[in-house]
Amino acid sequence: MLNFVIHKRTEQTEQDYKELLRQNTGILAAAQAGEARYADSQGWLDTEEWAGERKVAFLEKLAEDIRRNADAFVLIGVGGSNNAARSVIEALRLPGTPEIIYAGNTLSPNALNRMLKQLDGKSVYIDCIAKNFETLEPGASFRILRNYLHKRYGNRAAERVIATGTAGSSLETLCRENGYTFLEFPHDIGGRYTAISNVGLLPMAVAGIDIRELVRGAADMQKRLHEGPAEENIAYQYACLRNALCRRGYRLEMLSSFEPQFRWFYKWWIQLFAESEGKDNKGLFPVASEYSEELHSVGQFIQDGSPILFETFLDVQERQDSLIVEPDGLKDGFDYLNGKDFWCINKAAYKATLAAHSEKLPCLTLEVGAVDAYHFGQLFYFFQFACYLSGRILGVNPFDQPGVEAYKKWMFEALGKQGGREE
Ligand code: PA5
Repeated sequence: MLNFVIHKRTEQTEQDYKELLRQNTGILAAAQAGEARYADSQGWLDTEEWAGERKVAFLEKLAEDIRRNADAFVLIGVGGSNNAARSVIEALRLPGTPEIIYAGNTLSPNALNRMLKQLDGKSVYIDCIAKNFETLEPGASFRILRNYLHKRYGNRAAERVIATGTAGSSLETLCRENGYTFLEFPHDIGGRYTAISNVGLLPMAVAGIDIRELVRGAADMQKRLHEGPAEENIAYQYACLRNALCRRGYRLEMLSSFEPQFRWFYKWWIQLFAESEGKDNKGLFPVASEYSEELHSVGQFIQDGSPILFETFLDVQERQDSLIVEPDGLKDGFDYLNGKDFWCINKAAYKATLAAHSEKLPCLTLEVGAVDAYHFGQLFYFFQFACYLSGRILGVNPFDQPGVEAYKKWMFEALGKQGGREE
């Protein structure tokens, strides 16, 4: 389960928060019902739509076939097309499953050559995920990897190519004409909201992750956030509080935890909030900190620097692991740790950090039951729904990304693509 705890805050923030809770119940009700104006972006609101039983069973079977034959699975995608899968895979991939290699997220020839080198001697499958099959990074990598497979496997290469794109897209045509496996990218979900669909679930399943549990976690969270009184809705509380803090001049939200398994989840979360809220000269800049390492770098700024940020901790509740510090008889000055479990030492570091940071900045904690597939499902749905609410309270469209489109147009112009930037 997820639980939301708000630590010490100022009287002003408290007042603003309560006011926002009172004022925005209409936004919560509209989001729960689904809003007609965002109909082309809300396919994720009901997990059943793109991750119902039949779809999950199909993906499990496809992943099993890939696992049987592949040593390496290249996930080609950028932004919303790969962040969710990567965040779970890097935390939970099972031993003995294909190595997951990432492409489509860089234009550096050095990185691309290194990626190709990683494939040497391995049985390779690829999945190109692109909603709008115009994005340069995945498109260019897909071509390189297709050529690589054709050179290595000749006319059997097609069996190893999967692509995930919208129905009727040029990517679908390419697949149909060349015998590649085609999976549907939901037409009614934007990239960063697609964790619980073919986009996120196939790569996760290839890595041996229990996608059924992940979907169950998301569906349970959906149920929880769609019923009960507004003041008890944790996504609504979080959305109102971050807006209250934003109004009081906080400009950054930092997501942090003492569990390195969340390393890639931060990237998903950053993209979700940055692309959804950073527009019309508004929004909080999302950043992340991996503790305890970052306490020895940005920790100084957090405690003592410009008061521009507040912090949201992810705190894991169930003991995940255990490692006892044994005495070794040497005088190294660390005997105070004798017999202690790293699980407890790490928890003590969290509590100490929370106490120290709370003296300086507003801190919230999202308590996460465990780092497992079920809770990743809960986290995805929770943050997606909270982001939707938060964007609406902020007064922006949480589902578009006009700023990113601007870069793409300039880029196409620079490379001489027809239909680039128009004056
Ligand atoms: O969330 C989004 O919509 C974006 O981050 C996209 O996922 C990203 O730009 C990749 O787009 P595409 O899948 O069309 O290549």
